[in-house]
Amino acid sequence: MTSMKVAIAGATGAAGIPMIQELLAAGHLVTALTRVGSSGASKLPSHPNLSIVAVDYESISSLTNALEGHQAVVACFGVATPIGSQDVLIDASVVAGVSRFFPAEFGTDTDNSRCANLPVFANKVHALEYLKKKVQANPGFSYTALCPGAFLDWGLKHAFFVDPKTHSATIYDGGNLPFSTTTLTTISKAVVSILAHLEETQNRHLYIHDAVVTQNQLIAIAKKIDGKDWDLAHTTTSSAEASAYEELEKEKPDPMKFLFPLLQVSVLAEGYGGDFSAHLDNKLLGIEGMDDAELASLMARYL
Ligand SMILES: NC(=O)c1ccc[n+]([C@@H]2O[C@H](COP(=O)([O-])OP(=O)(O)OC[C@H]3O[C@@H](n4cnc5c(N)ncnc54)[C@H](OP(=O)(O)O)[C@@H]3O)[C@@H](O)[C@H]2O)c1
Repeated sequence: MTSMKVAIAGATGAAGIPMIQELLAAGHLVTALTRVGSSGASKLPSHPNLSIVAVDYESISSLTNALEGHQAVVACFGVATPIGSQDVLIDASVVAGVSRFFPAEFGTDTDNSRCANLPVFANKVHALEYLKKKVQANPGFSYTALCPGAFLDWGLKHAFFVDPKTHSATIYDGGNLPFSTTTLTTISKAVVSILAHLEETQNRHLYIHDAVVTQNQLIAIAKKIDGKDWDLAHTTTSSAEASAYEELEKEKPDPMKFLFPLLQVSVLAEGYGGDFSAHLDNKLLGIEGMDDAELASLMARYL
């Protein structure tokens, strides 16, 4: 594959660090952008093909200078960054002649209207609309919105779907809804593969997963490994959603009470498009998925 210059914005977070590793492993030249004054750079590996550049995400000149000569930009800002936080980065990418922009998606299906209407995705939806306008006006510019579903390893570590560490879980709607899920390594490899398939992946959502699982299946896998009982609470996604909206009505909403719950709704509730099986792009990107033994071996790391 031809080596490209790829910039990662929000490079020092959960998604950015493994992405840097896979891009470097594939022979690309990587620029990690971090905010001026951030100490995040200390988390990055040292590598001859990795440059670290401090930028001001509100300054078009700061970003354009940093992006000069790059073919691709991957935005990995966290989900809680405010609406419009990717706009200047997108503008600077156009000015610098970048050809492929990956908005900070990397989750559930923002092309599904119920999912897109969740307030936690307002920034993602705004960025997609902004990108589509820029792509129309600039023929050399394109985007890919990569949807891997819930992060599998991150989700097990952070008790997003079930908590293997404490053998406990809140089960939503009975726990049998299948959802797509992908490890950070596979997501990062998918980004590398998209750069090798620019034509087929331009200006659209792309769907990948390592596996489709349910909450109950994850618990069954864990039980098979260590035989321990689980402490389960039961609720519904509709009540989680209602409580989150109640919290959002408050003058100072507590993100703990609406952010995680609404993200869980986007994965675990029916009608939000969380199972990508019917429109999967794994084959195009060379993603093989995980079998039961691989899933069990991953689960064992978090028990
Ligand atoms: N599907 C899933 O289960 C799942 C889970 C987690 C995340 N995600 C998605 O993955 C993407 C990246 O999320 P993440 O959790 O990796 O991000 P993160 O760790 O929250 O943040 C990434 C980096 O962004 C920078 N940053 C923080 N606040 C910022 C701001 N206001 N403006 C600009 N930069 C800021 C920081 O880097 P510096 O300090 O170095 O500037 C930070 O290390 C998002 O699109 C998110 O929705 C999906």
